[in-house]
Amino acid sequence: MCGIVGFIGEGNVPRVILDGLAKLEYRGYDSAGLYLLSQQGQGYLFKEKGRIADLEKAVNHTLDSGIGIGHTRWATHGSATRENAHPHQSNSGRYTLVHNGVIENYLDLKTTYLSQVDLKSETDTEIIVALIAHFSEQGLSTKEAFKKVLDLIEGSYAIGLIDQEDPELLYAAKKKSPLLVGVGEGFNVIVSDAMATIELTSKYIEIHDGELLMIRSDQVTIEDSTGKTVQRSAYIADLDASDLDKGTYPHYMLKEMDEQAAVVRKNILSYQSQAGEFEIEAELLAKIHQADRLYILACGTSYHAGLVGKVIIEELAKIPVEVHLSSEFAYHQPLLSQHPFFIFISQSGETADSRQALVKVNELNLPSLTITNVKGSTLSRESDFTLLLNAGPEIAVASTKAYTAQLTVLAILADVLAENHDFSMAHELSMVSQAIERVFAQKEELNSWVQMGLNEVSHAFYVGRYLDYLVAMEAALKLKEISYIHTEAFASGELKHGTIALIEEGTPVIALITDEVTALNTRSNLEEVKARGAKTFVIASDSLAKEGDFTLPQVHPLLTPIVSVVACQLLAYLATVARGLDVDKPRNLAKSVTVE
Ligand code: G6P
Repeated sequence: MCGIVGFIGEGNVPRVILDGLAKLEYRGYDSAGLYLLSQQGQGYLFKEKGRIADLEKAVNHTLDSGIGIGHTRWATHGSATRENAHPHQSNSGRYTLVHNGVIENYLDLKTTYLSQVDLKSETDTEIIVALIAHFSEQGLSTKEAFKKVLDLIEGSYAIGLIDQEDPELLYAAKKKSPLLVGVGEGFNVIVSDAMATIELTSKYIEIHDGELLMIRSDQVTIEDSTGKTVQRSAYIADLDASDLDKGTYPHYMLKEMDEQAAVVRKNILSYQSQAGEFEIEAELLAKIHQADRLYILACGTSYHAGLVGKVIIEELAKIPVEVHLSSEFAYHQPLLSQHPFFIFISQSGETADSRQALVKVNELNLPSLTITNVKGSTLSRESDFTLLLNAGPEIAVASTKAYTAQLTVLAILADVLAENHDFSMAHELSMVSQAIERVFAQKEELNSWVQMGLNEVSHAFYVGRYLDYLVAMEAALKLKEISYIHTEAFASGELKHGTIALIEEGTPVIALITDEVTALNTRSNLEEVKARGAKTFVIASDSLAKEGDFTLPQVHPLLTPIVSVVACQLLAYLATVARGLDVDKPRNLAKSVTVE
């Protein structure tokens, strides 16, 4: 969701920024723009609705520039038009700015300070740049004006600012939205995600909320909100540029689904002690053992992982767990137990709704853990403990390997928390890893299902009971978000309580059957919908499968979601390819949702 790349120093500025923006495409966007400024103070602005490829064509690559800022916009205030695309400029053209976030009080600020200013877009962002110009015209220096505006604006922001009168200085600031400084030899960059500029530098400096940065080609000055200079060293981003390449795969999603078996194995190895037992920081375990209830908070796919995590933790560790959507929890907190412990699950570690909930948890001085794929991400930094997903960068908007990694890490956590049980989790997870490979190898079977019904329908249902119901929720999300087939998940037992009214001739109903106890009930429910015209499909564990089912290798009953979901992910992928849609960048969606 909105990506920023800014560059100052020696290098091919438009190339670096455009390449960086292309690597941020995964975040989701609908327009893009670039501003370049020459050493002589000549500015050039390019903006296009649509893809980076369109912007690429519009940019004059031969222009001489030593500084620039680029942006991919995911529309919030104002539709996706060229006028609303960033960068935005003050009327005189002196100030140019890119922004990721939402300025909540922009209308008040407009009325109070800018009633005489002719604004060109519908965005909250243009207010920021117009305000900087306004205060600068009243006699403040650029830094003072920027600082004053940062004090006035409410909401979330990551900002890159260029003053045409000072081509040797790039300004930046952030609050709630992600932004980093990349440190190079003879240049520096600002970027929403280190992934975008990892080929240029692996050294990054964190920016904390409320700080103001002045960045030159050879110097980074950080000031806190009181104006005091802050010293902060760079860290080395643990990213491999080759992880960002989709290689011979036609889509990132296919590559990432194929990586899942290896990610499970990587997590087994990284959480295993020399003795082969799973091991987790003693202080974290002690804190969880002191808790009388765990609260899992997350959004989207991570929320679905939390639902499965609750079952695994309750079954193995016997600790009660509640799972909440972060966006609900942040504003309507449930009655908490005496000694709560919070677990945030977030692939990106940047999701604004989860961050908002964490802010509340920290205000209450309550302990928390973040389970994330991104070391050093905001949620990881601001919670007490972190467990990493070790999944490598996930580029496709539809989350796949992050979900299976989340379930793996939750299973490892449950295993370590459990007093005793009669199986080896490491062994069971290695069986899961092999099972995922087998499911992936069988994917052509699912293609025949696509041809039998999913390539043309507008509605579909996933059903299941117990863990299968929870996986059905993730499966339905996968299918709807990329194929645009309206798909809902139901607990099979609920079909007769309403949903069955929606069954028409040919409606696909896909059942997940991995639970021995409820397998027959779900089969009966399928007969009921079949009798009303539904086209039924079954994904079942080996021991419960019947002819025509997609068969899953047998794994430990609590770990079946890590395997069954892979078949559902593949089905969503194949249906989307068959429908000729953009698998990796579905419409309207953003990978990292950095606004509430
Ligand atoms: C967006 C993404 C989803 C993701 C959700 C939560 O909606 O498109 O794939 O599950 O955000 O993201 P997080 O990074 O917190 O797991």
